[in-house]
Amino acid sequence: MIGIMGAMPEEVNNLLDQLKDVKSTTIGMRTYYEGVLFAKPAVIVFSRWGKVAAATTVSTLLLKFKVTELIFTGVAGAINHTLKVGDVVISDKLFQHDMDARPLMAQYEIPLLNKLFFETEQEKQEEAKAAAERFLKNIKKTISSEDLEEFRIKSPRVIIGNIASGDRFIASNTDKNIIEEGLPNIACVEMEGAAVAQVCYEFGIPFTIIRTISDAADTQSDMDFTKFIASIASNYSEGIIRELFEHENA
Ligand code: ADE
Repeated sequence: MIGIMGAMPEEVNNLLDQLKDVKSTTIGMRTYYEGVLFAKPAVIVFSRWGKVAAATTVSTLLLKFKVTELIFTGVAGAINHTLKVGDVVISDKLFQHDMDARPLMAQYEIPLLNKLFFETEQEKQEEAKAAAERFLKNIKKTISSEDLEEFRIKSPRVIIGNIASGDRFIASNTDKNIIEEGLPNIACVEMEGAAVAQVCYEFGIPFTIIRTISDAADTQSDMDFTKFIASIASNYSEGIIRELFEHENA
């Protein structure tokens, strides 16, 4: 069983529309939808925002639904200046940018795990990248030309990159710079990925974090994020997961 998570309803709504033979269960203020997604058994859930919300949702997916793999799909703010709205980042290393137990430990070190980051399995990275590339190649089939124009999405691309997660919406150059200066080569920032990665690491199951850039993590980010989430985030989630699952079935 594969677990699919998004932090907002808008990130998973289209996927829920595609789920067949659905059974829903509510536990701890989350509703888990089990069923068949593009011919694969899956359970889909909207986790709510932040590291705690994400971690508790992953634990439930593992313990109650016995998932053996986890995919997170959602949006992120760009830290890498070459990334544009509509580009996709597939996780490589995931850092918790707000973890800081100095002077007891190094900045960012995850207590007792002796780790600064969690790594996505290379095979998972490559499969997700190929799926996102197939989706973007045909993006005009799923997203209207008006929407593509509005968000200035011209030739969107996919990269495999490092992700910084923390309980903070990044909306200023000052905060962006702090992340950039402290951590190596960060592609984008969001609020759940590294928490999901930590729980999956601790339980020994593979994970992939797939993030579409919704904003530049600057003073415009709240507006850009809200518009992106409202209109096209769900098309990206559905399109990429469809490509991933249907390709594996082929
Ligand atoms: N998710 C999407 N945009 C974000 C931002 N600017 N900061 C944190 N999480 C985000």
